[in-house]
Amino acid sequence: MTKQTVLTGITTTGTPHIGNYLGAIKPAIEASLNSNNDSFFFLADFHALIKCHDPERVASSTREIAATWLALGLDTDKATFYRQTDIPEITELTWILTCMTSKGLMNRSHAYKASVDANREAGRQDDDDVTMGLFSYPILMAADILMFNADIIPVGKDQIQHIEMARDIAGRFNHTYGTLFNLPEAQVDEQTQLIPGLDGRKMSKSYDNTIPLFCSSDELYKLIKQVKTDALEPGEPKDADNSTIFQLYANFASVAEQAQMRTRFENGIGWGDAKKELFEYLDSYLTKPRGEYNRLMGDLGYVEQQLHKGAEKARRHASPFLDKARVAVGIRPLTWQPEAGAQQEAKKDKEQSAEQIARAEEGRRRAILMQLKPMLDRVNNAEDSAAEAKLLVSEKESAIESLKKKAKQKAQNELDLLREEFAGLLG
Ligand code: TRP
Repeated sequence: MTKQTVLTGITTTGTPHIGNYLGAIKPAIEASLNSNNDSFFFLADFHALIKCHDPERVASSTREIAATWLALGLDTDKATFYRQTDIPEITELTWILTCMTSKGLMNRSHAYKASVDANREAGRQDDDDVTMGLFSYPILMAADILMFNADIIPVGKDQIQHIEMARDIAGRFNHTYGTLFNLPEAQVDEQTQLIPGLDGRKMSKSYDNTIPLFCSSDELYKLIKQVKTDALEPGEPKDADNSTIFQLYANFASVAEQAQMRTRFENGIGWGDAKKELFEYLDSYLTKPRGEYNRLMGDLGYVEQQLHKGAEKARRHASPFLDKARVAVGIRPLTWQPEAGAQQEAKKDKEQSAEQIARAEEGRRRAILMQLKPMLDRVNNAEDSAAEAKLLVSEKESAIESLKKKAKQKAQNELDLLREEFAGLLG
């Protein structure tokens, strides 16, 4: 069985909290233990510059996030663990992909649109404070993913659109220059989308309701005492399912321990006691990795060395792969000749699994259809869609006649796709 490449990155703008741990780091480390997976985990420090212009914060977050992965036991011989900026090939690929990305696609990015909406609401110009970094950040993210031909991208819901965009960009490249990129898929774990923070809303930096993963015991207890509860007195039955305390506990405890705690809620445990239980459970769970974290934060040379090891591993793939992309687009040594082995390569390509071929084909279809969107709209918005589809297809047929060989082939592909797309209407 071919291995699946699992890849994910964390932007280095904050201190890792319990939500990051449960939602991203813990499942990623678990996935890296599965021998069917080839894992790539990285610190997205170029992404940090998009939203944070405080150099101290970017630097300290990078240290903290790196030490956190290692403290939690990531095996850097199994997974490839690196810092985005140690792989210059990623930035180079970003430019190549930028030239394969339509501006319209970026205009539709949620992150960019959210900034525009906020500006409108505040009565400012649409693009106030919008940098080109923010606008084109999905392209950098596409380069992160496509560089390693990743299959599965575990992310939060807010990132799904970016993975879709990476697919679109890859499809357009493959269509233009021949298939080089795999089409990645987002993987979203619904369960871990719901880790509540101090105020009961999703735990998130942007709500300022987080519990840092490796704060001191004292700090941990202080924060847990701040968790919002209702006004029920000790002795009154409490609803475990609607309690932030219970949900946090349940994300760490075993099924049997959860059941016991649920019973104690039904029996009216007081909030003070429930918080104390949660604190004690978490504190003992975190004692060992916290010690390791503190040790690593005092030995950053070692952490740096681990990142270099990962970068070397990553570049062993990235460097020849980028060369392929450069050659594909025509950036070549002046003396470049197609390899004698190129035919054999092509033969090997043909032997790809049926599934890979089907996926590549789907990407190609989507890329062509994206370019044909005005035609699709014309048919879909027509009063008589069937008549319009017939008209459009016959226009396209007669246009093909007048084209030269290569253009003809391209137009013929498009016509075939239109026929498929409108099969129901053409009868
Ligand atoms: N943009 C992602 C976030 O803010 C982080 C990220 C950067 C990422 N590159 C990636 C995630 C590639 C997955 C794959 O959460």
